[in-house]
Amino acid sequence: MSVDETIQARRSVRRFTDDPVNPKALREMLALAALAPNVANRQVWRFIIVTRPELRRMLGQTVEIRLNEMGNWPEFKEQQMRLRAWREQAVHFAAAPAILFVINLGYRTPLDPMLVEHGMKFYETNALFGHPDIQSIGALLGYFTLLAQERGLGTCWLTAPLVAKHNLQHALELKTGEEIVAMMSIGTPAETPLPRTRRQIDEVITWM
Ligand SMILES: Cc1cc2nc3c(=O)[nH]c(=O)nc-3n(C[C@H](O)[C@H](O)[C@H](O)COP(=O)(O)O)c2cc1C
Repeated sequence: MSVDETIQARRSVRRFTDDPVNPKALREMLALAALAPNVANRQVWRFIIVTRPELRRMLGQTVEIRLNEMGNWPEFKEQQMRLRAWREQAVHFAAAPAILFVINLGYRTPLDPMLVEHGMKFYETNALFGHPDIQSIGALLGYFTLLAQERGLGTCWLTAPLVAKHNLQHALELKTGEEIVAMMSIGTPAETPLPRTRRQIDEVITWM
């Protein structure tokens, strides 16, 4: 398949068969995806791959429990529909044979010490430069989806479960300062999702 064809064939897949994903294939895909452009080549990522069924179940329950707790907050009293819709997006990962957790190690530019001394906060400097750490991880994950597609594997990029980020980080025994910024479910597709259309490209291009 050409790159164009792979891009056109990829869909977010949310239902998988029980077939395990070969760890060697996952390792190879991550090594290739890490060739993506990334800020100052700092490779600001670390990965956790969860395949053990009982741990996957526990992580899914962690998100469910958090959403149930939020359902009792006064702010959500009239908003149970929103929480239910969120749940739809947030818990299906637990049934995937492999779940990739991406941890952001963070990036500070060489200008940061001076900008911070001048009064900026780190989150402001990071925003000023367009969150280069997150952009780098996005590039890697974009590549990863295509590498998976090439190998007959489906993926779903996920951030909705991060509603329970601190609970997930605790369950995965992350060190202080380490932050999960994205997840991806991976497996053999058990569905063929229809393509989701995109805006006409000319609507979003300004030529100057
Ligand atoms: C940053 C990001 C976060 C996403 N989070 C979720 C998620 O939490 N749950 C989910 O089911 N899909 C999630 N998706 C998948 C998108 O919904 C999907 O890519 C989009 O609807 C377009 O569909 P397609 O990927 O099939 O072309 C996410 C995608 C991205 C890039």
